[in-house]
Amino acid sequence: MNDLDGPGRYQYMSFNAPLSEAHADAIAARLAYARPADVLDIGCGWGELMLRVLDRTPRAVGMGVDTDEELLARGSAAAAQRGLDERVTFINTPGVSVGQQADLVICVGASHAFGGHAAALTTLLQHVRPGGRLFYGDGLWDPTVTPKKPELVWADFFDLPDLAGLVDLAVATGYLPLFTETASPDELDDFESRYLADGAEWLLRHPGHPGAANVRAGTEDHRRRWLHGYRGAFGFAYLTLGRPAA
Ligand SMILES: C[S@@+](CC[C@H](N)C(=O)[O-])C[C@H]1O[C@@H](n2cnc3c(N)ncnc32)[C@H](O)[C@@H]1O
Repeated sequence: MNDLDGPGRYQYMSFNAPLSEAHADAIAARLAYARPADVLDIGCGWGELMLRVLDRTPRAVGMGVDTDEELLARGSAAAAQRGLDERVTFINTPGVSVGQQADLVICVGASHAFGGHAAALTTLLQHVRPGGRLFYGDGLWDPTVTPKKPELVWADFFDLPDLAGLVDLAVATGYLPLFTETASPDELDDFESRYLADGAEWLLRHPGHPGAANVRAGTEDHRRRWLHGYRGAFGFAYLTLGRPAA
């Protein structure tokens, strides 16, 4: 794909999640400290967090699973560039079809691949080897914040739990919470800005392109939903959850 075909995808993002470089490195270091022998990243995108864990665990092997071939190719290229290609594979398959267990399972921003938080936490528990951990990241909703324009909020955001509700759900599913974190307001703003930058930067270069009206409409719709709708109420949890040893 070249610049005249349309905007790139996630070009300005290191992660497809509200995660800063420093926060990601701290999480990767902590996950690596437990010395997992294998890492399974479900809904991995380009698998950047998994690669950072593998960078810090020289004998561990990794598998990233996603259904987007273009993102998987970005992950494979990044692994090769960092000399990790012998230890990591990226596979195009739906998350629900994954069969194996791992010491460390990562699932960030992909609970929808299982049907939401409850189904994801239940299924993912079976993928964590007893004594291992799940690093789980996904959306939250703060019911005490009233959006300026509720009609602009994606409808399913209103069904998300708050942090306490999500941790309670994890405990009820059988996990032991080890670390409970959230994305900061800056991480959330940075995520939205970087997401929008593909379209905005492209429009700056190609205002008269036949596809510009569609790109402008999509970019403006998303920006309005974020700034007038869910900003301040939508959040993102990062839970490190243990599966108790058998
Ligand atoms: C918000 S992104 C998060 C990507 C990555 N975990 C990260 O943090 O950068 C969600 C990912 O889930 C993937 N996905 C969507 N449906 C899926 C499915 N049924 N099975 C596996 N992956 C899926 C998408 O292609 C996308 O890469």
